[in-house]
Amino acid sequence: MTANPYKSDIIVKSPGRINLIGEHIDYNGGHVLPAAIDRKVTLWFRKKDNNLCRVNSEDEGAFTFDIQKPLQISDTHWENYVLGVVDGMVKARPGKLGGFDCVISSELPIGAGISSSAALECGVAKGLNELFDLGLTDLELIEISRMAEHNFVGTKCGVMDQFAVTMGQRNKLLLLNCESLDYKLIDAEFAPFKILLLNTNVSHNLASSEYNTRRAECEQALHAIQQDYPAYAFLAEVPEKIIELYKDKLPIKVYHRALFVSRENARTLKAAELIQKGDIEGFGALMYQTHEGLSKNYEVSCVELDFLVDLSKDIPQVVGSRMMGGGFGGCTINLVEEGFVNEFMDLASKAYKAKFDINLTSILVATSNGVEISKTE
Ligand code: GLA
Repeated sequence: MTANPYKSDIIVKSPGRINLIGEHIDYNGGHVLPAAIDRKVTLWFRKKDNNLCRVNSEDEGAFTFDIQKPLQISDTHWENYVLGVVDGMVKARPGKLGGFDCVISSELPIGAGISSSAALECGVAKGLNELFDLGLTDLELIEISRMAEHNFVGTKCGVMDQFAVTMGQRNKLLLLNCESLDYKLIDAEFAPFKILLLNTNVSHNLASSEYNTRRAECEQALHAIQQDYPAYAFLAEVPEKIIELYKDKLPIKVYHRALFVSRENARTLKAAELIQKGDIEGFGALMYQTHEGLSKNYEVSCVELDFLVDLSKDIPQVVGSRMMGGGFGGCTINLVEEGFVNEFMDLASKAYKAKFDINLTSILVATSNGVEISKTE
């Protein structure tokens, strides 16, 4: 029985996510390989008999709003993850939501690239769907959560995070086609290696604006290619050979973005094959290639992330390392021999502290189920 300190009607556990490979290609119709993880946001929901809603985050504080009135974007950044979802739910099921209390407690560091935001959005979406018996499907809730980020937060994100947080399964990776939303479950079997995240504890301001810029650059590349090849509907499906024809026709940065997207999609499909064959070293080599592409061609890395990846290259017990998520800070994801995990954490922390005078945080993760709801007595 889960502890219920808030006398709630339901308790929602909503996980963060990792992504093994397939970065910045969800919004380009590519394939990604994420999993939900064993670190979560917990949300306690209780219905009220009036129209007032009160949302109280243990870390960020509380705010209130009236469910009958139109919702506005808040000046307090984190509130928009909640407000955006509630707005989407009200529009999907007009007149069906009433007042509620929601208390939020999170184990997910913010800005670490492990999707504390999608965990919050999807936890609110699934929770309200259950509390008010709205009958929305998981795919509808994923879409409402993603659009909350577009419309209220202002990041034009892809579907990967919300999909992984909602549909994740313990011991599985999701090989997700971000266009069709078809997916295949792959065993998350990496023995004798463990998945270790190293959190740089930096989160450069660029993240949201540069994210939207990358998206626009990719649209620009696709648009140019479609003039000659109208059959391509998404950038990720354009083969590298065709992208190369545009080297002198596109601004050089835009060309490099497109090259990365095409290569990253191919790498992700290859990676899924290698993992299924148990070739973890082969997969690790692809992780390094992805980092190189994200850093040089896509330009979403930063000195702190590059430092950690470079450091790992000299250590034979680390077979793969790269930045994970949107970039400009957050975590690297590393595959480290089980018996060497502690030593690696220790040496990476010392080197990082010496270089940047910042404490590194290590997170050893396992895969887990997506959002889970329990009803209380
Ligand atoms: C963020 C976005 C995702 C995805 C990643 C990069 O996490 O929310 O949609 O684009 O960045 O792969």
